[in-house]
Amino acid sequence: MLDIDTIRNDFPILREKVYGKPLVYLDNAATTHKPQSVLDRVINHYSRQNSNCHRGAHFLSEQASAAYESARESVRSFINAQSPAEIIFTRGTTESINLVAESFGRKFVRADDEIIITQMEHHSNIVPWQRLCESRGARLKVLPMNKKGMLKLDRLSKLITENTKLLCVSYVSNTLGIVNPIREIIDLAHRYDVAVLVDAAQAVQHIPLDVQEMDCDFLAFSGHKMYAETGIGVLYGKQRWLEAMPPYQSGGGMIGNVGLRESTYAELPLKFEAGTANAAGAISLQAAIDYLQEIGLDAIVNYENELINRAVESIASLEGVIVYGDFPQRCGVVSFNLENAHPYDVGMILDKLAIAVRSGNHCAQPLMEHLGISGTVRISLALYNTPQEIDKLIAGVEKCRDMIGSRYVTTK
Ligand code: ALA
Repeated sequence: MLDIDTIRNDFPILREKVYGKPLVYLDNAATTHKPQSVLDRVINHYSRQNSNCHRGAHFLSEQASAAYESARESVRSFINAQSPAEIIFTRGTTESINLVAESFGRKFVRADDEIIITQMEHHSNIVPWQRLCESRGARLKVLPMNKKGMLKLDRLSKLITENTKLLCVSYVSNTLGIVNPIREIIDLAHRYDVAVLVDAAQAVQHIPLDVQEMDCDFLAFSGHKMYAETGIGVLYGKQRWLEAMPPYQSGGGMIGNVGLRESTYAELPLKFEAGTANAAGAISLQAAIDYLQEIGLDAIVNYENELINRAVESIASLEGVIVYGDFPQRCGVVSFNLENAHPYDVGMILDKLAIAVRSGNHCAQPLMEHLGISGTVRISLALYNTPQEIDKLIAGVEKCRDMIGSRYVTTK
């Protein structure tokens, strides 16, 4: 059992009023709020140990470097990677994926090779692969979805050929909340010797991850969606891939020796971390991991599952509401529309009731095209949300329906 009152007290922003009303924050897939313990650790870092990591031999630099590497070890342990060499700090999921596209792409992708993505990906797991394929003369293939919002896994083995180099797939869809059978997908790809990159941006805060058990080749996630700061993220990569891949960006910190004509590169993980490290960000991520572990991941998973099921049932039971996706396992997210109403209008009215949701295409335009719509209203939950907040949402959607539901031409 979670003590939700205590948890809510940990998040100062939840005490804020919006238009004079208590904030109901249901936009956690976009970014989560930060507990006081994360904020305190960042302030402590800047107040007591701020210095450039891996650059100086002085006291503060050594403190900052040790704190940064301790954060890396926390991430390693959190996702059960074999070695801290496999944990690269980035700006977020987007940069992690771009790093693989650029570096793995330069080393391993040639003309006529193939990359497979899925129809439900976020733009950040589509566009880097389009650009890579364009630059290498490679081919981008797409694993389609069915009407229920599930990947057509029976098509995967037919899509793979001997030229397929990489499969890029999200663990949890940021738009539908479907939990893809990631183990099954990875096993299948590996049977054909295809490496797999998992976008875990919407999974890491809801599902305990074990990269060794999953056997993924790469995994990307962001700190800010799991209660840490913005501007920090992680790329996990199997060491043998990362060893073989060239640096992504170049500059200070990623070198061995530099001559005017040529240079050698640092060992992992620093080879992929050019420029001044975001130590405060990494420390905030460590603090967020500590926070989640103190509460207990199993308790969080159970609570969030109950909450999401309650949310889906309540929203689906509303007359005139379409809930998108019909699949066995959902986490974190529900997307819906009010018949005859534009999602932006619904979002705007909910906002005036102090209920924060996201409306639009959620950076997943190909998925929207598949659904035949331009956007949805999306709620996304975090561990501090409550059943009472779901009730407020339901009352808010009913209000939207009363106000605008009949004025628009149907979107169906
Ligand atoms: N990727 C974030 C979302 O789904 C911004 O809202």
